[in-house]
Amino acid sequence: QKIRIIGVPMDLGQQHRGVDMGPVAIRYAGLSTALRGLGYQTEDMGNVTIPGHYTLTGTSYAERLPLICKACEATYRLAREAVQAATTPVFLGGDHSAAIGSIGGVTHDRPAGVIWIDAHGDFNTPETSETCNIHGMALAILLGQGPPELVNAGRPGPKLRGDQVALIGVRDLDRREKQLIRESGCTVFTMRDIDEIGMSGVLRATLQALAGMDRLHVSLDMDSIDANEAPGVGTPVPGGLTYREAQLLMETICDTGKICSLDIMETNPILDISNRTARTAVALAASLFGKSIL
Ligand code: ARG
Ligand code: MN
Ligand code: MN
Ligand code: MN
Repeated sequence: QKIRIIGVPMDLGQQHRGVDMGPVAIRYAGLSTALRGLGYQTEDMGNVTIPGHYTLTGTSYAERLPLICKACEATYRLAREAVQAATTPVFLGGDHSAAIGSIGGVTHDRPAGVIWIDAHGDFNTPETSETCNIHGMALAILLGQGPPELVNAGRPGPKLRGDQVALIGVRDLDRREKQLIRESGCTVFTMRDIDEIGMSGVLRATLQALAGMDRLHVSLDMDSIDANEAPGVGTPVPGGLTYREAQLLMETICDTGKICSLDIMETNPILDISNRTARTAVALAASLFGKSIL
């Protein structure tokens, strides 16, 4: 089995520079070596180029939107090609707006269930957002709400239905985002659910909700993990997943045998402590791809 690594150094979906260095940080933390150690072949495609990325001086939503579109379309093409070549793509972000391209592309020929692991819902629209940051709109866009240029990136129309999506780790939703998420039909497990029924209970219910899907894509926002283990993120929220909760999540999803692709998003080595966030990301990816304790 071959894993294809695709870097998406996108930093236009939010305000912090440095998240564009996520792909290099995760490579440096030994992603390929870890996966080869599990018996996979790995193929690194390098990074998607994001034209105008470093020369853009404006920071407004309107100025960023067309560049994010181009980057998502390029990511979409690589995602689609990876699936068509019968490889398992792993996307290294970059901010979470890159998932518009990766999830769009992996679902080009066949649907996939999506497990969106995040402190946030990423379910804003330009109307509800308090920040205008597109990384906070990525999931809503994949479900067909928001700027048409991005909703239609890669192929026209929504890329996912609500019943194909489960969110885990949520603990910071904006006021009007809550309403949209409740109406979306997505399965949502907040940190409170994890406190009450435990990660194993949450996972049982998640896999039940996605039982009809024969392929699963994991979109891992590193800010889902507690800052002890993942301090290098631009929008940290207290009270995140513990190291073991996150590992159990990956180990359990691995057991389904349905994993088709992975995003590792929002790692910002500039805000980090000794690349800890990327090292956590590599350890979680290893568990998702079959590393077991015994
Ligand atoms: N809800 C906030 C916003 O809309 C934060 C979003 C954070 N998203 C992320 N992918 N880290 O801006
Ligand atoms: Mn987040
Ligand atoms: Mn907020
Ligand atoms: Mn996110």
